[in-house]
Amino acid sequence: MKFNCELKKVVDDSYDIEIGRKLQNTLISDLKSGLVGKIGKFAVVTDSIVVDLYAREIYEKILNAGFKADLFVIPEGEKSKTRAMKEFVEDSMLEKGYRRDCAVVAVGGGVVTDLAGFVAGTFGRGVPFVNYATTLLAAADASVGGKTAVDTPLATNLIGIFNQPKKVYLDIDTWKTLPREQLSSGLAETIKHGCLGDRELFEYLEKNVEKVLDCDVCACEYIAERNCAVKYKVVMQDERESGLREVLNLGHTVGRAVETVSDYRLYHGEAVAIGIAAQARLGEKLGYISADNEKRVEKLLERAGLPVEIPDYVDKPELVKKLYTDKKVRDGKLRFVFQKEIGEMMCFGENQYGKEITEKEIAEIMEEM
Ligand code: GLY
Repeated sequence: MKFNCELKKVVDDSYDIEIGRKLQNTLISDLKSGLVGKIGKFAVVTDSIVVDLYAREIYEKILNAGFKADLFVIPEGEKSKTRAMKEFVEDSMLEKGYRRDCAVVAVGGGVVTDLAGFVAGTFGRGVPFVNYATTLLAAADASVGGKTAVDTPLATNLIGIFNQPKKVYLDIDTWKTLPREQLSSGLAETIKHGCLGDRELFEYLEKNVEKVLDCDVCACEYIAERNCAVKYKVVMQDERESGLREVLNLGHTVGRAVETVSDYRLYHGEAVAIGIAAQARLGEKLGYISADNEKRVEKLLERAGLPVEIPDYVDKPELVKKLYTDKKVRDGKLRFVFQKEIGEMMCFGENQYGKEITEKEIAEIMEEM
């Protein structure tokens, strides 16, 4: 005997990304207007640096608006993006009486938004969340698109879920308090977007990258908006990465491996910059990008304050092994995505953006770097 459980769903996970300066009051008025329904209890998840810069203020504004709220603070840095830290936040929420009648407000950079979005997706089998992004990296990539995850000792982002926020706030005013290396790190994801899908953005950065590093408001607003446009053009077509979304992984095969093998001494964007340079160098050998354009990519990364060489302390044979933890690996074979000149991606068949690469081909490039 069979019982058919018919559970067809029509899901509308659309949401707004608000780009602006000092968006704390906008967030509060959205909560009052029912952004997350009738929920009146908010877990504000943040890190040990952002708590005093922005999160406590948001938490107090939530309380002043008549809601209940608590702050949940994790140590800053990529090393907090673990299953253990997720458990710590969940247990702290449970101890404070949080159940299904709450929402999560993530205030911070990519580590916080990735972790808090994952917590929200599994806490009480799922509660709503919003992201208040306070870094360029989170604005360019992590806080938008619905990928949430934690790292494991083997590699980054291996355990997670797709979980779309109810709204994302990109407060470009917060970029002013970022250390220079963190701005550069966010610029790596921005340059990635230029390389893969927006030639104009790339050329704008060639002219104005220093303005972004100086937090010029117009330049920051421009790149925040263009980053969202590139990313969403892809995510709207392939939210769950069945093909096209792999292009957003440009530079991440080598990048994620360098990040892990360096034991997180490099910021995510710094590691991605090395990965972007690696795919451009290999792409040049394979005829996907001209030598001139390859040089433009490396030059722009360097002007953004990013590395394009593998640091001496990174063990290269270990790095080659680590490439196999990449999620694009199929049947034990390495697969890379490549930019096509500047502003487009190589496509290797219908909905096929990954290309099989031998270990020798990529090892040779990494040996030169
Ligand atoms: N960070 C790559 C993606 O969102 O797919």
